[in-house]
Amino acid sequence: MTTETATTWTKHHILSLETFTPQEYETILQTANSFQDVLSSRTKKVPALQAQVVANLFFEPSTRTRSSFELAAKRLSADTLNFSGSSSSLSKGETIFDTAKTYQAMGANIMVIRHHQAGVPHTIATEMDQLGGQVRVLNAGDGQHEHPSQALLDLFTLYQYLSAESPHQFLQGKKIAIVGDILHSRVARSNIYSLTAMGATVHLAAPPTLLPKAFGGILSDAYQEQLVCHWELEPALTDADFIMTLRLQKERMSEHLLPSLREYHQRFGITRDRVKLAHDSVKILHPGPVNRGVELSSDVMDDPELSLISEQVTNGVAIRMALLYLIGTSGSVTN
Ligand code: CP
Repeated sequence: MTTETATTWTKHHILSLETFTPQEYETILQTANSFQDVLSSRTKKVPALQAQVVANLFFEPSTRTRSSFELAAKRLSADTLNFSGSSSSLSKGETIFDTAKTYQAMGANIMVIRHHQAGVPHTIATEMDQLGGQVRVLNAGDGQHEHPSQALLDLFTLYQYLSAESPHQFLQGKKIAIVGDILHSRVARSNIYSLTAMGATVHLAAPPTLLPKAFGGILSDAYQEQLVCHWELEPALTDADFIMTLRLQKERMSEHLLPSLREYHQRFGITRDRVKLAHDSVKILHPGPVNRGVELSSDVMDDPELSLISEQVTNGVAIRMALLYLIGTSGSVTN
């Protein structure tokens, strides 16, 4: 890993992808590529973050994100602290901000934060900046807002699949369908920012209750034409190069937004027959966890010719190593 990469990185925290530039995505992809080589080597480890402390503060459940951030930190030789909301002093009335200050006082250099409320990682980052700016914050998923590291591992998965053909413009002209519970999805929002910035056209598809019209207007004018909303599945899937399916987030549905899961699957579930509408070489992605037989049929999910889901999970480690490395070794402070 060159020091040049780290010194050209200027973001102090990674909270949202909304303002990321194609150049920043390129830097992250190149850095993750280098770490993929490290992970394929015999030792699988580098001393890049030796003596740094990475605190994983997960106030909401997680399997993939928490484990892969922990493994990524260990592969970079950092020390790790793992916090879980249910077994912490939160149950005794401590606030999340006092929890964060406790980890800061113990010497945490990087805080990886997941919370069910949008904006919590941002607020903790602001508090940490007021305490001297030594702590960097990574958003590991905040409510319905954003999940930057998931979108970046998705981007890295697409890059690995396409870069041999076109290393720099690998998404130029590609059609990507994002199907499912867009209303509640932080993954959709982060992916819309990254995929359009890298040249893809994103087609959203969901029932009207899960895809408000306003969603079509979240991008700046420069990217607006690269985002299309559909309230039927077929136009989104037709000739798509990739299909990203999203989990129905039953835990975030405060009212009945769907007649039934069975009806959802009948209208929007990705099945082998529906995949035939897409490009011949189409690949399916899903951030996980999957509701099998709801957003995705099991035979499609388990077909290695169609599914990139395992690759997404594998790539999560290299991309999170890249993010920890970039913010852990960068000097300047700009957001
Ligand atoms: N994709 C994702 O965020 O999964 P986890 O909730 O298991 O971390």
